[in-house]
Amino acid sequence: MIVFNSIKEFNEIKDNLGNLSFIPTMGNLHRGHISLIDTAKQYKNKVIASIYINKLQFNDKNDYLNYPKTIENDINILDKHGCDYVLIPDDSIVENILIIKAPPKSNKLCGQSRPGHFDGVLTILNKFFQIINPEIVFFGKKDYQQFVLVRDFIRDNNLNIEIVGVDTVRNDSGLALSSRNNLLSNQEKIIATELYKALKDIAYNKTVLDSNLIDLKKDYLKSLGINVDYLISCDCDTFEESYKISEKDILVAVAAYIGKIRLIDNIKLIKL
Ligand code: PAJ
Repeated sequence: MIVFNSIKEFNEIKDNLGNLSFIPTMGNLHRGHISLIDTAKQYKNKVIASIYINKLQFNDKNDYLNYPKTIENDINILDKHGCDYVLIPDDSIVENILIIKAPPKSNKLCGQSRPGHFDGVLTILNKFFQIINPEIVFFGKKDYQQFVLVRDFIRDNNLNIEIVGVDTVRNDSGLALSSRNNLLSNQEKIIATELYKALKDIAYNKTVLDSNLIDLKKDYLKSLGINVDYLISCDCDTFEESYKISEKDILVAVAAYIGKIRLIDNIKLIKL
């Protein structure tokens, strides 16, 4: 695997790399990220990952400062899993960057309590897309709103990029893998498993999906001491609250604080 430690290093040989499949990450890689690499390896292109903790998408300074950094280990993981290239830019990548304003639906779900978050995500991704010029990009569906916003951004700007969504990877107890899980105590990790249990319970009861079912689950999570940011049943594309499972697939999404750590998860309910 070739490691590019700057955009300049990458630019020097980019014309010789052929068509690329691209996986953007913020490092602290786990099996969720590896599943993106493994999926990308099934396509014919060479695979390039990036590791960059993007300051622009953090609204909480401490969250940014505490974001786990494990760069040597990340490089080993990527190499072991057959990634061909990794780009690790320094902060000059955000100098004079073109700021992208995410569309109004970015203010729903995670955008509600993280204003500007998706502007930061699209801004850095737009820059990476310009630098790398990928043919295919891979995103996890754990961050479903991010996946949809990037998909729409690519479509609305006629970028000639295919986007592939990859299913959420979980640990044995159902907890969606996340770099933030490393910041949880053992006790908090056990409580965190209740998020996916709640989503699965809702999915199990999808024939009677309504706001009462959601409120019941929300109250249950709160009774466990979980600080629920949102638990919503919504349209998969607009994120408008919806219970019309007989007409369309529905996304049930949750964000909650376990102690000081904010976790997200979601489940898609297939139309009845
Ligand atoms: P990061 O949180 O590092 O995630 C990188 C990619 O891995 C994202 O596409 C995310 O959805 C995916 N991913 C994370 N956990 C996963 C899991 N348990 N199962 C499957 N996929 C998972 O998302 C970001 O970084 C940033 O916002 C970024 C896109 C890099 C822009 O800065």
